[in-house]
Amino acid sequence: MALPANFLDELRQRSPIATVIGRTVKLTRSGRERKGCCPFHGEKTPSFYVYDDHYHCFGCGAHGDVISFVMQSTGAGFMEAVEDLAAQAGLEVPKPTPQAAEAEAKRAGIAEVLEAAAATYAKWLFEPQGRAALDYLRGRGLSEATIRRFGLGWSGEGRGQLAGALRGQTIKPDQLIEAGLMKQGDNGPVDMFFGRVMFPIRDRRGAMLSFGGRIMDDGQPKYVNGPETAVFSKRRTLYNIGQARAAVRKGAKLIVVEGYMDVIALSQAGFEGAVAPLGTALTEEHLEEIWRTTPMPVICFDGDAAGQRAALKTAELALAQMAPDKSLKLLGLTGGEDPDSLIRQGGPKAFEAVLDKARPVHEALYGMLAAAMPRGTPEQNAAFLHRLDEVAGLIQDPVLAGEYKRHLRGQYYSQGRQTWRPARPMPGSKAGRWGPPPGAVPEAQLSALRQSAQDVPPPDLLRARHMLATFFWHPQLIHDLDEAFAHISLPPEEARLREALHEFANCGKPLDRANLLAHLDAFGLGRQARDLEAALIREEGRVFDSLESPADAVRNWWNWYNHMSDIIRILRAQHDEALREYAARMDDEAAQERLKRYTYLLREAEAGEAGGADG
Ligand code: UTP
Ligand code: MN
Repeated sequence: MALPANFLDELRQRSPIATVIGRTVKLTRSGRERKGCCPFHGEKTPSFYVYDDHYHCFGCGAHGDVISFVMQSTGAGFMEAVEDLAAQAGLEVPKPTPQAAEAEAKRAGIAEVLEAAAATYAKWLFEPQGRAALDYLRGRGLSEATIRRFGLGWSGEGRGQLAGALRGQTIKPDQLIEAGLMKQGDNGPVDMFFGRVMFPIRDRRGAMLSFGGRIMDDGQPKYVNGPETAVFSKRRTLYNIGQARAAVRKGAKLIVVEGYMDVIALSQAGFEGAVAPLGTALTEEHLEEIWRTTPMPVICFDGDAAGQRAALKTAELALAQMAPDKSLKLLGLTGGEDPDSLIRQGGPKAFEAVLDKARPVHEALYGMLAAAMPRGTPEQNAAFLHRLDEVAGLIQDPVLAGEYKRHLRGQYYSQGRQTWRPARPMPGSKAGRWGPPPGAVPEAQLSALRQSAQDVPPPDLLRARHMLATFFWHPQLIHDLDEAFAHISLPPEEARLREALHEFANCGKPLDRANLLAHLDAFGLGRQARDLEAALIREEGRVFDSLESPADAVRNWWNWYNHMSDIIRILRAQHDEALREYAARMDDEAAQERLKRYTYLLREAEAGEAGGADG
């Protein structure tokens, strides 16, 4: 019956706990968390807190993750809750095949072998054979407590020493190969690690994944990491993520650095939220893991040109996934220092001072982009502006992308005035050199939209835009509302969006926001949709929140619909038409369905009109 651990991880990731709980509990933000009245005991003042990956009620002690929430709140069993969430997330629950059970058992077996190896390496470090390694670590400023906390060890000299030591625990060389601790040589298995200081690598729950090993002199390679195995994947793994998560929960900053020793030195200096990738650039998977821990990590880079390039690449990768609660700060280190060497020289204070200089990505981004491209001629400036738009356009969250675009352009124009103003001001130019002042672009597009809307009364157009935008957040509603929506008269721009939505609903892809936006982009309507949405937020104060439940969204949608000024007339005409059709072909099921639907819609609309208040 065992489900693969990675399926449950994915399920949890695709079922944001705040969204799931927000469907039944009204949650409000409280700093980084959300809180509301506990659904498990009667209370009037909220003591039910929802964190990134769990909830906790300080009133009754209810506690758990997204799966236990569904179990506790609906009385479902574990598998039932999993299936429920999977259906909502559009995931298929893997059948617990014998192969899956076997793979799971294999993973558990590997973790056990690695655990035994870690204990052996750690023991050896404190034996005479590990003396030089222990001295090396002490020489690098690590206390015994730190060495033990990170489980550091000594690999031994190889030649089957580890296999020999583990034989007593009935662990065979084949298992060591599976675990990435040995590899097949010409004359049988040979050790992967020898003559090295060992760094155990664990996952966020503390399960062993692999090791890194450092040579103590100038030999090459300096570090060796274990190979990819059934449990270890470098692109998913961050060194020290488990301890860092615990520290972040207690208020530490999450700091991403380059190497093992940086993490350990930072941690010993009191910055316990440090993690590092394993000799690779940060990947998308790393960023996801980081954001599951904190909305605002600090990412350290070398201050040199290569470091700047790496920082920009990471920023671009991050932008694509950024949202209001998923951002980052960048910290460029200078003078060839890494966090470890900074702390060795200046103590924790030295790093604290540097950490203060970390800049939010929106601030750092412009400088990085400007450093990478020439400016001066109109052509160069235009290419640079295109680049700014392109980078802002990487952000999928449309509102945030709009904000970045304006921000970057704003910096361009204000910097342009200071730095790149022509020697003599251009005649009659007040607003900067090229193009309109910051913020003018979306505005111009919006007024173009307004002009094309002459025939539709402005309040109706606004309602229609609200209705369109509802679909941007809840594309799964299009099917049900599509037909009713089709009867509203819309100006050409909005009508095209409506058409694209209709096509999307019938294209067979999962009806989620990402697919929808991609579809609109393909139609060349992505920008229009995002601008429309941004304008509603900016000008109408509409709150788009993924927490808005589909039920609320539908209710609001009908409210707008039923307040369209000529909706009753339209629906009456449709109803009459349906009635005629039905009278002609009483046995036609489709005609019957149509009549039923319009009778219902008309009744709803008339009720809405009688209700009076505008939506
Ligand atoms: P660095 O060369 O910056 O090492 O590599 P460092 O962390 O400052 O190490 P010390 O201070 O000399 O001990 C950064 C990271 O890149 C990976 C390791 O994960 C290392 O921590 N790396 C480096 C390798 O995988 N292989 C190498 O040969 C070198
Ligand atoms: Mn170093």
